[in-house]
Amino acid sequence: MKKPIGIFDSGVGGLTVVKEIFRQLPSENIVYFGDTARVPYGIKSDKLVTKFSLQNTRFLSTFDIKLLVVACNTASAVSLDALRQKFSFPIIGVIEPGARAALRGSKNKGIGIIGTEATIASVSYEKFIAEIDPSARTFSQACPLFVPLVEEGWLQGEITSAVVKKYLEPLKRQSVDTLILGCTHYPLLKSLLEREMGKGVTLIDSAEEVVAKVGEVLGDKRLRRSGEESPFRRYYVSDIPTRFVRIGRRFLGEDISPVEQVEIEKY
Ligand code: DGL
Repeated sequence: MKKPIGIFDSGVGGLTVVKEIFRQLPSENIVYFGDTARVPYGIKSDKLVTKFSLQNTRFLSTFDIKLLVVACNTASAVSLDALRQKFSFPIIGVIEPGARAALRGSKNKGIGIIGTEATIASVSYEKFIAEIDPSARTFSQACPLFVPLVEEGWLQGEITSAVVKKYLEPLKRQSVDTLILGCTHYPLLKSLLEREMGKGVTLIDSAEEVVAKVGEVLGDKRLRRSGEESPFRRYYVSDIPTRFVRIGRRFLGEDISPVEQVEIEKY
């Protein structure tokens, strides 16, 4: 099936999901939209994030996508139901796969969740976890400074380590053996987060889980692409692409130009 997978995020962060698609589903065609004009979503209201998510999906649907990945945790947390009501292709968010993986990985059922303010306020991870296993204990922490630090490329060093320490301190006082990285940007801080939480804590990178889920859904619906030609990968953003291209290289570890700009408010 030649139709592409559509992916959107509030900006560059969703490229961590794209990277996983390259690894797990390398022959799939993809169209990525990064809403760079309106990022960050993590500090905006549910209503506004839902409006943005609908516009982003309307834009991606013009490519006749076979499946949509909402790579943004914030958008997944607040707008998935609205999207599923409006569009008929399968829509995969990042919350459920991350929550399931955490429950699979946790031995003592103590699960930490870190994310943007909007994701943590939505208690979406907690709701999913409680539905699947009411005996699980969850502890959450919003980490609003992580996104700008990652965007600046401050993935190591004294300042980022101090911020990591400060945010994780309350979680370390709880008996968590699993920590969900509930934001697109956090996998880039994995080594610092791992060091801070210590050996006994497993970090859950939602990107891996989400793409595994995408593979499963495409397989079940017989929508996998198996063509010999190399796949196409298109990238669109809502503001000028310069910064996206530069930061995107860091997320993907490879060049992503050309990147086109779209007027997303029209959709
Ligand atoms: N993509 C967002 C998320 O995963 C992080 C960046 C933002 O706040 O827009 O929650």
